Amino acid sequence: MSRGLFVTSSGTEIGKTLVTCALAHQLRGTDALVLKPVVSGYEPETAAGSDPGLILTAQGKAVSETAIAAIAPWRFRTPVAPDVAARLEGRAVTAAEIAAFCASAGAGRETLIVEGAGGLMAPIAGRETFLDVLAITRWPSLLVVGSYLGTLSHTYTAIETLRARGLPVAGIVMSESEGGGNVAELIRSIASFLPELPVCVVPRLAGAEPWAKVPDLTQFLVDKSSSCVAPKAPVEI
Ligand SMILES: Nc1ncnc2c1ncn2[C@@H]1O[C@H](COP(=O)(O)OP(=O)(O)OP(=O)(O)O)[C@@H](O)[C@H]1O
Ligand SMILES: [Mg+2]
Repeated sequence: MSRGLFVTSSGTEIGKTLVTCALAHQLRGTDALVLKPVVSGYEPETAAGSDPGLILTAQGKAVSETAIAAIAPWRFRTPVAPDVAARLEGRAVTAAEIAAFCASAGAGRETLIVEGAGGLMAPIAGRETFLDVLAITRWPSLLVVGSYLGTLSHTYTAIETLRARGLPVAGIVMSESEGGGNVAELIRSIASFLPELPVCVVPRLAGAEPWAKVPDLTQFLVDKSSSCVAPKAPVEI
């Protein structure tokens, strides 16, 4: 059975790309396809440092405009939410188009990893958000959260939102925020509030290629129907 995992977060700049790169790195040598369909603040001149550029590097692949276009078809220069960026740049994108691109690009692959853009409910167009992409694909979400003050409310709000739409959750990754926070106590709280969800910690990492130092996250790819709110099979890819 093929597996799809959607890497989302409780906000922006939390650690989705770090987690996605870690998965991409850990899945080298497999047929895993890693996509970043929508990216804001993308400048071709600094493509290597963009989210899709980092994903390619983490996989040991060369960064080129062609390679980036293949995994990130909607690239906006303006560093704002996708709906605003699209409007400002005279373009349009819908949840259905994003879901269709990911499903088609990942057809026949054993594993498909997709990084969202911004937080779980980052707007795409009109009333559509990334939740609507998930409502179509039904891929389990891996929720990346921080360790800053206030993260618990953001975390529980995101999980509650996914559950309200009947969407499966694979687990939570806490990527330690700049300035730390009491990670051990936060994890204790999450484990007691959401005992059914697996949680993993990515400590604050320094240096080049931090994704290579992230603990094994491929555990989240294992079919864990008990950790899914709605144990419906993810869309076959
Ligand atoms: N655990 C960590 N250790 C060190 N740096 C981190 C960690 N988590 C996140 N960062 C850094 O914080 C910044 C934001 O992280 P990242 O780009 O992964 O966020 P994101 O959720 O993908 O953001 P976006 O919504 O823009 O896609 C990056 O510079 C990243 O390297
Ligand atoms: Mg990112």
